[in-house]
Amino acid sequence: MRKKIVAGNWKMNMTFEEGQILTSEIVNMYKDENIKDVVAILNPPFPHIFPVKKLVGDVAGVKIGAQNCSDKESGAFTGEVSAKILASFGVEYVIIGHSERREYFHEGNELLAVKVKEALAHGLKPIFCCGESLDIRTAGTHEPNVKFQLTESLFDLSPEDFSKVVIAYEPIWAIGTGKTATAEQAQEMHAALRRHIASKYGKDIAAETSILYGGSCNPKNAQEIFSKEDVDGGLIGGASLKSRDFMDIIKSF
Ligand code: G3P
Repeated sequence: MRKKIVAGNWKMNMTFEEGQILTSEIVNMYKDENIKDVVAILNPPFPHIFPVKKLVGDVAGVKIGAQNCSDKESGAFTGEVSAKILASFGVEYVIIGHSERREYFHEGNELLAVKVKEALAHGLKPIFCCGESLDIRTAGTHEPNVKFQLTESLFDLSPEDFSKVVIAYEPIWAIGTGKTATAEQAQEMHAALRRHIASKYGKDIAAETSILYGGSCNPKNAQEIFSKEDVDGGLIGGASLKSRDFMDIIKSF
């Protein structure tokens, strides 16, 4: 049975104190509300990782992720943070290829392929982001475009390595806009991506791959979106900054 996952992408938000409060609230709610079969991943900005990891402690279902990693292992790359360093702090997941990294930092499919391999080489599980712009959606070419992102950045992986990857489908036109994809639109793309994965790696690996939806997911729409057969959870931005909202999304399955 593939994992149900709700990952919170804090993006560039939360001071130290705000992050400590948010994490404590989430961890306490996760325990008190007896969450069983949903993995919660907290993806804070880099400086939070160590203190957040300490607060999470040994709560089994709550994991730590990073929002990015370098394509390099170590060396004179000022400002960068490597997968090797992240792993040494107990980070288990890393978001790679978020649309904001692709747009603002010009990260292309080739570079992202290297980042995925670097993350895997150091034991991190990539949360690989893909998704189309409004122009592409309007043109109706979203399916081939998003499949191409997977082909270019992931399909060189061995079956064993690919099976460690989580996919996050985030239509760019839904990110931070309050304009969420409909549950049917999400299901259509998730099913298409799962078929694409099966065409390369076979039905078993495709069936075991968690495919998350991201883009204005919130406590009001999560239940319908998560009810779809090929939706295995969410990658949450704004709603992950409020503990009750984040937990209500986790409880939406
Ligand atoms: O990575 C998740 C993020 O891109 C979605 O943001 O604020 O639309 O939930 P938001």
